[in-house]
Amino acid sequence: MNWRDFPKIELHLHLEGAAPPALIKQLAFEKKLDISNIFTPDGQYDYRDFWHFLEVYEAATSVLTGPEEFKRLTAAVLEESAAHGVIYTEAFLSPDFCGGRDVGAWREYLHAIREAADEAHAAHGITLRGIITPIRHFGGDVARETARCAQETAGDFITGFGIGGDEKAGHLKDFAYAFDMAREAGLRLTAHAGEWCGPEEVRAALDHLRVARIGHGVRSIEDAALVERLAQEQIVLEVCPGSNVFLGAYPRLAAHPIERLRAEGVKVTVSTDDPPFFRTTMTREYEDLERVFGWDAERFTQVNLVAAEAAFCDDETRAALRDRLETPHV
Ligand code: ADE
Ligand code: ZN
Repeated sequence: MNWRDFPKIELHLHLEGAAPPALIKQLAFEKKLDISNIFTPDGQYDYRDFWHFLEVYEAATSVLTGPEEFKRLTAAVLEESAAHGVIYTEAFLSPDFCGGRDVGAWREYLHAIREAADEAHAAHGITLRGIITPIRHFGGDVARETARCAQETAGDFITGFGIGGDEKAGHLKDFAYAFDMAREAGLRLTAHAGEWCGPEEVRAALDHLRVARIGHGVRSIEDAALVERLAQEQIVLEVCPGSNVFLGAYPRLAAHPIERLRAEGVKVTVSTDDPPFFRTTMTREYEDLERVFGWDAERFTQVNLVAAEAAFCDDETRAALRDRLETPHV
């Protein structure tokens, strides 16, 4: 099957993490910044492991110095996603990298991101929504400043609040206040958990942050009671199989728990996380899931309908997504 044109929903994509290396190199050249140490000789991002990845990620973002750069980034990312059949995507946006969490500066960055999103919607039919994302290893106090940016800009475009970064840093309890602020502003909630840490971290996200979705969550498979809870409470997992395999959380896709979680009744969806960092695309994820687990068009449509249901968007947008997913495609 040629999966490229198959309509897809992606719920877990870091905007900076989706930056084509060529764009980051070009911006570094324009700004006379030397970040050549983050690239391999053939121009790919270069890092040793997840923690080094986070450092390289932050180095790459250092060339994104203003709203105009984020407009170029957003345009490039959405064009690439649309080329892989993505009709709706939610991107993690970090006020940390967009004006250092100053609300006024953040509004300007957001305006630029939205302009690019509107243009991409008109040109490629792809819809974007933003999830504001504090970075765990920056700490809980800093996250409150991020939550303030979220409160001030929550609406029809900024619809979610999440947390990414180093899962082993600090405790999710430290972020409960920031998540309460976001919830009170009407934002829907997700958190990275169970990517590097075990089931206890997924429980912490559910108990302390009261999230509807979990970013990754794959290590829940190690705890049968938690798997049952996820299924019962209809918690949606934003699973990024290629990311987990590339970073070494699982040695190969055949050992990845996505199919076991799905078979146990957990709502799973499929995303790329930071596609050029992990040498993946949505097309490649689908090809791999077909090859290793035998997922077919019916299965992918089911998974995309779960994603549409769980998307942090208004019901009119959701209904339009469902229509596009259910329209037969060749
Ligand atoms: N930030 C970007 N990608 C991430 C990931 N896979 N886990 C946690 N934080 C991230
Ligand atoms: Zn992620």
